[in-house]
Amino acid sequence: MKKVIITGITGQDGSYLAEFLLSKNYRVYGMVRRSSTENFERIEHIKDKIEFYHADLLDFSSLVEMIDEIRPDEVYNLAAQSFVPTSWKQPILTGEFTALGVTRILEAIKLIDKKIKFYQASSSEMFGKVLEIPQKETTPFYPRSPYGVSKVYGHFITVNYRESYDIFACSGILFNHESPRRGREFVTRKITEGVAKIKLGMTDKLYLGNLDAKRDWGYAGDYVKAMYLMLQQEKASDYVIATGETHSVKEFVQLAFERVSLDYKDFVVIDKTLFRPAEVDQLVGDYSKAKRILGWEPTVSFKELVNMMVDSDLEKLKNNG
Ligand code: NAP
Ligand code: GDD
Repeated sequence: MKKVIITGITGQDGSYLAEFLLSKNYRVYGMVRRSSTENFERIEHIKDKIEFYHADLLDFSSLVEMIDEIRPDEVYNLAAQSFVPTSWKQPILTGEFTALGVTRILEAIKLIDKKIKFYQASSSEMFGKVLEIPQKETTPFYPRSPYGVSKVYGHFITVNYRESYDIFACSGILFNHESPRRGREFVTRKITEGVAKIKLGMTDKLYLGNLDAKRDWGYAGDYVKAMYLMLQQEKASDYVIATGETHSVKEFVQLAFERVSLDYKDFVVIDKTLFRPAEVDQLVGDYSKAKRILGWEPTVSFKELVNMMVDSDLEKLKNNG
């Protein structure tokens, strides 16, 4: 049985990746940081099949001990401070988690066993003020937030450990991916939960920022399969994972309200405080390398994704009372 460590297992992607690797018969170890209350909402249904290990991206010796004790075949580094607006409020902490945290894990792998395969959760935020449309593996980076800058560091340190120490290290440059398990502060989930609350009469306003920003939105369940495929190749490399389509926040809002037969103009209020100091205006990815080498393709359309998330939030709110 192959052993895998997933950092960030309590997050959206960690939960889908753990499900997927369990279905592939992996022994799954989840790295969690200590907290006064358990934070297992997304992995409640599989937690009995996961072995949890307490460690923190900020604490090098905890990472060394974890890797030494478990001796995994593969490590997926999904843990990060992942919310872009927080990265302006806490830029130094974001750098510690999202940038230096990557070096700490890679150093631990280098010290203990260079044959451990490594996946780094890189991001389309690295393209920021885009220098090419669509964005592919060779597109230069121009990050627009402390989060994006930290991810560029994480990407290049992954490439560097691959080239310096011959570690099988891959950087997956993933465009936005969403699901019913998406954190509530990200725009898609904020919209679908807001729409569900409005439909059920629990509120009558949805406060949003920039509706003109465009993103390439896919389904998280599809994207974790690409992570796995990257580590099964003969050669380590970096891949863009995207749908190749771009849609504005406004289009997402429109479709979400249409799903419950309402007009968004009656409920959405623009709140200027939600605009960012520097925006990423448009992202759209070219996933042809992943298609050619990994045989990977997205399976959920934009409309299916919106509908899935609205339906799930309606269901959750109805069940809660
Ligand atoms: P998420 O839901 O915000 O989950 C982040 C995870 O990181 C949580 O499990 C969190 O643990 C953990 N974490 C944060 N700081 C930590 C620390 N110091 N030590 C240990 N664990 C820590 O993020 P996601 O959407 O699943 O994304 C997964 C990864 O992919 C992230 O690195 C993100 O930046 C990257 N990414 C995401 C997208 C996307 O669209 N979702 C696109 C590109 C890249 P707690 O539960 O304890 O907070
Ligand atoms: N969060 C949020 N809240 N975003 C809003 C709002 C709002 O009320 N109103 C408009 N937006 C706009 C933002 O300005 C941004 O342009 C867009 O919606 C998407 O914002 P988020 O959903 O917060 O995601 P993100 O694109 O900044 O970052 C996500 O995707 C990255 C990959 O490109 C995160 O998952 C990152 O961790 C990930 O790397």
